[in-house]
Amino acid sequence: MRLIVLPGDGIGPEITAATLSVLHAASTKFGLELAIEQHEVGHDSLRQFGTTVRPQLLDIVRAADGLILGPAATFDFRDEGRGEINPSMFFRKHLDLFANIRPAKTHAGLRNRFGDFDLVVVRENTEGFYADRNMAQGGGEMLVTPDVAISLRRITRHCCERIAHAACRQAVRRRKHLTIVHKANVLKIGDGMFLGICREIARDYPGLEVDDILVDAMMAHVVRQPDRFDVIVATNMFGDILSDLTAELSGSLGLGGSLNTGSDHAMAQAAHGSAPDIAGRDVANPVSLILSAALLLAWFGERIGDTRYEAAARAVEHAVATAMQAGRGTRDVGGTLGTSAMGKTIADILISQTH
Ligand code: NAI
Ligand code: MG
Repeated sequence: MRLIVLPGDGIGPEITAATLSVLHAASTKFGLELAIEQHEVGHDSLRQFGTTVRPQLLDIVRAADGLILGPAATFDFRDEGRGEINPSMFFRKHLDLFANIRPAKTHAGLRNRFGDFDLVVVRENTEGFYADRNMAQGGGEMLVTPDVAISLRRITRHCCERIAHAACRQAVRRRKHLTIVHKANVLKIGDGMFLGICREIARDYPGLEVDDILVDAMMAHVVRQPDRFDVIVATNMFGDILSDLTAELSGSLGLGGSLNTGSDHAMAQAAHGSAPDIAGRDVANPVSLILSAALLLAWFGERIGDTRYEAAARAVEHAVATAMQAGRGTRDVGGTLGTSAMGKTIADILISQTH
C-alpha cells in the first residue's frame, strides 16, 4: 500500500509522527509493506513553494493508494490568489471525497459523563454551506456592500443520493438504525430535498429503522442519550459541527477519527484542527489521526479484497482501546503521556497483543 502523508500545521507534524509509528508497527506485524512518502502542505509549503498545496500533489495522491492529511491552519488561509488554499477542501473537492465518515465511541477506562455509546456521523463533504467548494468557479460568498454579506448553500439531488447510500451502507453493517439530521422546518427547500431523498434511498435497504431529528434538537438528544444513535447522516456543516460534539462526548475531540471517501480515493484526517494553542509541546492527542489511519487501512483492504488490512485496522483500534482502558492517555483524556509516547504506547501494544 502506497501512502502519501502530508503532516500540515500546528500539532499536525506531532500527531502525524505518532501515527506513522503505529502504522510502521501494523505494517511489520501484518506484512502490509506500507510505502510512505511525505510532502509539505500548509504554512511549510507556502514558505517553500508560494502555495499551501502544490497542484502536483493531486497527481501524486491520485497515483497512490491513500492519503493521510494532517490538520492545516485553515483560518490563516484567506486569499487563494496568494496561494492560500485550504488543503482539506482541495483534496475533498478534487478527489470528490463526498462521504466523511466520523465514528465516535466511548472507551472503558475513560471519564464518561454521558453513558456508553457507539455511533458514526456520515457527513456530506462536497457542497452545502462550504463556500470554498460549492461552486465550479468563484466562491459561494459575496460581499454585496461593505456591510452586506451573502453566503450560498448548495444542495443537489446527486450529492444527497450518494451520501444517503453511504450512510445506509454503514447502517446495514452496524445496528441498522439511521437518523437523518436536518433543518427542513426552516430550510424547506434545501433540507426538505435532503430529508426526502434520504428517506427515499433508505427504503432500498430493507430492515433499516429510519428516523429524523431537527439539528437544533439533535444537540440536546445526543448529549442526553447518545446511545440511542447508530448512524447519523447530515449535510456538510451540520455534520461538521455535530461530529466535533460527538467526538468530545466520547472523551475528547482528540479521539475523533475521520475518513473522507469517494468512489476511487480515500483520505484519513483528524476530525479536529491544527490546535495552535497546544502546538509544539508534545501534548496533543494523536488518537484521532491514528484511528483515521486505521479506517484508511480497512477501506483499502476492502477495495482490493485483502483481509490483512482489515485485521490491521481492527488491531489498531483494539490497541487504542487497550491503552485507554489502562489509563494510558494524553492529558485531554486525563492521562499523562505526551504525543510521541502515546504513539509508541499504541505501537507497542499493537505488536504485543495476541489477536
Ligand atoms: P481545533 O480543532 O484545532 O481545536 C479546538 C480545541 O480542541 C482546542 O482547545 C485544541 O487545543 C483542542 N484539540 C484539538 N485537537 C486536539 C488533540 N488532538 N489533542 C488535544 N486537544 C485537541 O480548532 P480551532 O482551534 O478552532 O482551529 C485551529 C485551526 O485549525 C484553524 O486555523 C482552523 O481553521 C483549522 N482547522 C483545520 C481543520 C483541518 O485541517 N481539517 C479542521 C478544523 C479546523
Ligand atoms: Mg470540523
